[in-house]
Amino acid sequence: MGNLPALRLGGQRGAAAPLILAPLEGITTSCYRRVLQRRCGGFDGAIAPFIGTIRRARRYDYHLRDILPERAASGLPLIPQVLGADPEGIRFVARACAELGYTQLNWNIGCPIPNIVRKRRGSGILPHPGMVERVLDEIRAPGFPAFSVKLRTGLEESTESLELQSLFNSAGIDFLVLHPRTGRQMYTGSADRNSYAAFLSGTRHPLVWSGDIVSRAQFTELSALFPETAGWLLGRGVLMRPFLAREIRERRDIPFGPGEALEFLAELAGEYLGCGSDRLWLLSKMKQHFAYLRKGCDDRDGAELLWRRMRTFRRWEQFAELAA
Ligand SMILES: Cc1cc2nc3c(=O)[nH]c(=O)nc-3n(C[C@H](O)[C@H](O)[C@H](O)COP(=O)(O)O)c2cc1C
Repeated sequence: MGNLPALRLGGQRGAAAPLILAPLEGITTSCYRRVLQRRCGGFDGAIAPFIGTIRRARRYDYHLRDILPERAASGLPLIPQVLGADPEGIRFVARACAELGYTQLNWNIGCPIPNIVRKRRGSGILPHPGMVERVLDEIRAPGFPAFSVKLRTGLEESTESLELQSLFNSAGIDFLVLHPRTGRQMYTGSADRNSYAAFLSGTRHPLVWSGDIVSRAQFTELSALFPETAGWLLGRGVLMRPFLAREIRERRDIPFGPGEALEFLAELAGEYLGCGSDRLWLLSKMKQHFAYLRKGCDDRDGAELLWRRMRTFRRWEQFAELAA
């Protein structure tokens, strides 16, 4: 127990702070993390997509299986994530993760999916400080993994997170990740730098930025703007451009065209097939990935042509032939 590598934050700040792969449910799976790390590198750690506290839910076992150490081993420190609002459920998931050897757990209180928000989970809990407090009381129990929180600025209003700040500041929290949008915003508009600045100035814990980093130039701008930031989560930008973390670290552009995108996909497909994935399911997964990758390619026109072709595929063999 407790033998897996941990991701420590707070040592380096600004441009030198750790680069962390964001959790993207159904996308940044163990297969994806392995390929990303092996082929592209540049990351210091990853947060896994959420495990819900509802144990009878269809995806509970799947999510837990995906963080089994032998499956999750990518060479990157990995932090499991829990989604829920009931202290007991969170304790249960924390224990399951600790038994697998994890020493850290991240709490998702940013998810904006209406079904989840309605149950006051994800960003639905943000307007309810009492509920947040009950969970923060739970983490004081001896043996609880180091607890970090990933949140949005609020559900309806960006001031909701500021109202929670005194609770966070008095709790034994590892670090916080702020995606500066409200839940209601979903993914519209752009990350709200003013709200991030306001939260950063009042927090006593290391704070990590999450949102809209899709290029090296953007990273440079944000890290100059927020030199106190203790880490950077890269999400959709990496789906578009898998070398983004390495480009940031090495301070150079790495050529990435439709050919490189296909090579990446072929390796990813191989990884999924090795885990026994169904081929028709995998075809739609490859399309989902290419829908992102085409936006990050240097040759956008070439990628668009390829995309139009790939979208028409109905059989796995069509993709396999293209990627061969
Ligand atoms: C398809 C998708 C799935 C996501 N799944 C999760 C998740 O499981 N847990 C979580 O905390 N955030 C999740 N997020 C939010 C991301 O981790 C990240 O905070 C957000 O996308 C903003 O960062 P980005 O602009 O770099 O992608 C998800 C986002 C997307 C688009």
